Amino acid sequence: MKIGIIGLGFVGLSFASVLASRGYSVIGVDIDKEKLKKIKNGMVPFYEPGLQSILKKSLKKDLKISSNISDLEKCGLIFVTVGTPQKRNGEIDLTMVKNVINKIGKLLSKTRHKPIIIIKSTVIPGTTQRVILPILQRISGKKAGKDFGLVTNPEFLRETMAVNDTLYPHVIVLGGDNNIFLKKVKRFYSNLHHNVPIVLTNYGTAEIIKYANNSFLATKISFINQIASICEEIPNANIDDVAKTIGLDPRIGNLFLDAGPGYGGSCLPKDVKAIIGFSTKMGVNSTLFTAVEKINEQQINSIMKLLKQNIGKTQGKKIAVLGIAFKPETDDTRDSVSVKLVSRLVKLGAKIIIHDPKAIENARKIFHDKVKYQKSVTLAVKDCQCAIIMTGWKEYEKINNETIKHMAKKFIIDSRRIVSNKNLNAKYFAIGLGQKI
Ligand SMILES: NC(=O)c1ccc[n+]([C@@H]2O[C@H](COP(=O)([O-])OP(=O)(O)OC[C@H]3O[C@@H](n4cnc5c(N)ncnc54)[C@H](O)[C@@H]3O)[C@@H](O)[C@H]2O)c1
Repeated sequence: MKIGIIGLGFVGLSFASVLASRGYSVIGVDIDKEKLKKIKNGMVPFYEPGLQSILKKSLKKDLKISSNISDLEKCGLIFVTVGTPQKRNGEIDLTMVKNVINKIGKLLSKTRHKPIIIIKSTVIPGTTQRVILPILQRISGKKAGKDFGLVTNPEFLRETMAVNDTLYPHVIVLGGDNNIFLKKVKRFYSNLHHNVPIVLTNYGTAEIIKYANNSFLATKISFINQIASICEEIPNANIDDVAKTIGLDPRIGNLFLDAGPGYGGSCLPKDVKAIIGFSTKMGVNSTLFTAVEKINEQQINSIMKLLKQNIGKTQGKKIAVLGIAFKPETDDTRDSVSVKLVSRLVKLGAKIIIHDPKAIENARKIFHDKVKYQKSVTLAVKDCQCAIIMTGWKEYEKINNETIKHMAKKFIIDSRRIVSNKNLNAKYFAIGLGQKI
């Protein structure tokens, strides 16, 4: 059976490469010509550990790349993995999904095959049933459940772990009507992943599972950040000891308890915003998620407050921001807290120098020549009044007194506690650590 995947970003390209590497015949489609050119040449257009080698292997097997959805005519399964970014009002933007669904509708109208359309993009509850299904039926003139299948299959992979998570997912969620098409998709996944739980449910439940998952993760982060703020007021307190210990309680678990400058990235901020918007629309008060978001935003405020207390006005001051990607091992700067911090500092007239091992090119697309960029940490912090560690890159563990020797004022804000044991000859503040006495 041929498989089509529309949208070759983090989710789609990882899925396409893994499937082809496992022997499936796959056609990946994207509209971005630059991206397609790179992918065809075996180059991943973004930084994702391990993906490049699996892509290269897959291209030698049966992974074809195309810009044309009509090339998917003979595909039995068509996965939709295009983006669902956030609109200004916090709702998700369905433009890309609708665009693709329209094209699939046209394809359906011409084909005698009965493909199954599988929605992997994150969509708000009700989207598959009330938006996607009517478009497909109207444009194709065909009936879901009879002439084609429609299944919701939310994705849970983590950037930086995309290959691993695609190879070894913790769960497969399939939402749809209980018909032959749903059973077919179930069979596909149980052949692909042995011993992985497959949850069969309806469209709306599958869609809300994804939001429940991400809003819970965001809640964990805001929870530990709130405790971190309390720790900062307790002499010698250490948030990592707190997190490690409560994480040993199996009811809590040890993941997503890393205090820091707040959650960022292309998923958590937009998914929390979307669930707040959705529940408000439904008349459900989203008190918890609103608090989660508020705590997340406060993390930057406390960094700004520290700066003010220690260097006064930021206008004209040189400040190094170490790490612009939303987490280490990625070049993704979408909704990165570090990007928000730099934007605020630039507005206040600070002279910012950005260092990041992988994300400088993406930072340039945002800040152009409004900031400076440095490839070496030592040069980035030279003559600065402050260095702020924002992303937990391993490279920053090497920062020592030699690295900061030429800072104008030796003042470090370490949002990840990455150099907390270094005894640096500097005024040092870390999120979640009480002052040493
Ligand atoms: N990135 C993650 O970690 C992650 C994890 C789980 C779920 N998701 C969800 O999965 C979806 C995809 O996320 P992503 O990070 O892979 O997005 P992405 O922005 O990295 O990739 C989306 C791709 O779709 C392509 N595209 C847009 N319109 C198209 C069209 N009309 N035809 C063909 N291709 C088109 C874009 O060019 C892009 O390459 C989103 O809904 C996201 O919320 C993402």
